[in-house]
Amino acid sequence: MKEYSNYSLLNHNTFGMDVKAKRYVEYDSEEELKELIHTLDGDVLHIGGGSNLLFKGDYAGTILHSAIKGVEIAEEVEGEDEVLVRVGAGEVWDDFVGWAVAQGLGGVENLSLIPGEVGASAVQNIGAYGVEAKDVIVLVEAIELASGQKRIFGNLECDYAYRQSIFKNQLKGKYAITYVTYRLQKTPVLKLEYGNIKAVLGDKDNLTIKDVRQAIIDIRNAKLPDPKVQGNAGSFFMNPVVSREKFLALQKEYPQMPFYEVANGVKIPAGWMIDQCGWKGKSLGRAGVHDKQALVLVNLGGASSDEIVTLCETICKDVHEKFGIDIHPEVNFI
Ligand code: EPU
Repeated sequence: MKEYSNYSLLNHNTFGMDVKAKRYVEYDSEEELKELIHTLDGDVLHIGGGSNLLFKGDYAGTILHSAIKGVEIAEEVEGEDEVLVRVGAGEVWDDFVGWAVAQGLGGVENLSLIPGEVGASAVQNIGAYGVEAKDVIVLVEAIELASGQKRIFGNLECDYAYRQSIFKNQLKGKYAITYVTYRLQKTPVLKLEYGNIKAVLGDKDNLTIKDVRQAIIDIRNAKLPDPKVQGNAGSFFMNPVVSREKFLALQKEYPQMPFYEVANGVKIPAGWMIDQCGWKGKSLGRAGVHDKQALVLVNLGGASSDEIVTLCETICKDVHEKFGIDIHPEVNFI
């Protein structure tokens, strides 16, 4: 266990906000977490890689971080194609993806290079290129912070939806995830339908999950800013879902508008709308809109959280005025 007071969070948030936590504790096991919860008082925030957070100032409570490690094949049924892999919440997500691909196990290759840690993958229901974490999560092990009791959530109990889970809603702040078990395939079925994956892969025969991982890495590197170079939290906004009627009316006005049919309506890419509002590559103060993907807000260097929030609010207002659609941040404001 590592514990610090008045601790700089600069290396724990990818937006690069130079703020401090009153107390910061990193634990290595469920046992340590159970011991430590007795010492908690005041506000508590559990973070992963800090890649989806915007700190609006110093944090006056305790920040918890899991260093629970380990990637183990939990179950491999003879004759079955599935393998269950149990991963510690503190593992770096992309290290796990790299491991799976190296083992020839399919299911998570489309989620290559997503920043963050395994515990957060189950909270955020991370998703990209036609795959979401919920498609491969079987079990989530967690400790209730109030009681220290362990609970195992089955996939359905996690209430997964687009970028949503029970851990972000009804149980927000109540549980710390310790392990996630994923279902992977020994004979991978490639998922190449989203956007330009096929174009990037070209005409190569006998494609493997290694090729898919590399294509996704290339696409992401070309479109998304590297937080080590320019502070950002990936997509700043969620893609809104509108009714079919609203979509059809908009489509008449904007025939080139990209869209995805979903169960409860039609999803419109917020990045496209922000781009149409002329915001791509523009800035307000030291907060900017990425020049290759308008869904991503960037810290141009020393931006204050107020500057990021002002840019966010201005963009939301402009999108509302032009399209009559409310967009909402995916990033959590702390
Ligand atoms: N588009 C533009 N201009 C832009 C950005 C996008 O015209 O500046 C258009 C694109 O041409 C495309 C459509 O909008 O037709 C969708 O763009 P893209 O494929 O880049 O995906 P997205 O909907 O903007 C989502 C996820 C990303 C994920 C990609 C790929 C959300 C909030 N974001 O972005 O996730 O990588 O799909 O699956 O759902 C993240 O969550 O941090 C993240 C990066």
